[in-house]
Amino acid sequence: MVVGFIGSGNMAAAMARGWAGAEQNSPSKMLFTDSGSGRATALAGEVGGQAVDSNEDLVRNSDVVVLAVKPASLEEVAASLPAPRAVLSLLGATPLARLAEQFPDSTVIRLMPNLAVEVRTGVICMADPEGADEGIVAECRSLLEAISTVYELPDESMDVATAVMGCSPAYFAVIAEALGHEGAAGGLEPEVAIRMVGESMAGTAELLRRRTPFEIETAVASPGGSTEAGLEALAAAGGADAFRKAFEASIVRMRGS
Ligand SMILES: NC(=O)c1ccc[n+]([C@@H]2O[C@H](COP(=O)([O-])OP(=O)(O)OC[C@H]3O[C@@H](n4cnc5c(N)ncnc54)[C@H](OP(=O)(O)O)[C@@H]3O)[C@@H](O)[C@H]2O)c1
Repeated sequence: MVVGFIGSGNMAAAMARGWAGAEQNSPSKMLFTDSGSGRATALAGEVGGQAVDSNEDLVRNSDVVVLAVKPASLEEVAASLPAPRAVLSLLGATPLARLAEQFPDSTVIRLMPNLAVEVRTGVICMADPEGADEGIVAECRSLLEAISTVYELPDESMDVATAVMGCSPAYFAVIAEALGHEGAAGGLEPEVAIRMVGESMAGTAELLRRRTPFEIETAVASPGGSTEAGLEALAAAGGADAFRKAFEASIVRMRGS
């Protein structure tokens, strides 16, 4: 299946890199456009795809079009296009109804990926309209499963999901940076400290498949121990409350845009 990316920015690059390294269910070919920065050519060179001169040519030569521009560009980009067979929209806070207005003759699927699709351990939330062509939806789903765990959600849950799984890699990076910084200040090699945090996160992610967050917390923090002291300091500094505020701020931004 030929997949064409309109937009070659951060998320297009993450998905394309994920597919380029996938052993199966990857696109037979990937095409890219940009708005003049040259990122399409650079990305095509990196993943073995092809940059295309115009969005129109890209649509004509693609089986599935990934819409990977900023939400504010939707109307401008859609205006000049022939109808793609299928559109996978990555646009944050952009409901199916708004997408369907712009692509009335296409099967439109709304996606919310996170950055870890680049290493094929991403999460992709997916909402498709009632009555969508099941064959196309299944074909797209198997492509997405090559780079992620896919969750099918109602359209109205996508903003909340975005605040939970789309934004969170940045929050985890903040944790890695803070702990890595302290580790380095305490004498560890900075890169080793960051890697230790990352591997602790990966291990904890695996544990979360089997145990609840509470079980993990209590299994690590024995009474009177160093983790308990750390958790108390974290709570005093706003700990979990800070993440609640981050979640709320993302929701407010999405609903205000
Ligand atoms: N970043 C994330 O983690 C993430 C997560 C989930 C969803 N998303 C969604 O993914 C979409 C893209 O986000 P991003 O972070 O990848 O943005 P980005 O890095 O700014 O990339 C946007 C891309 O769109 C291109 N573009 C703009 N107008 C165009 C046009 N008329 N024709 C063709 N290409 C055009 C830009 O071209 P130039 O290169 O020439 O500027 C750029 O390559 C957004 O809707 C966002 O909500 C992002």
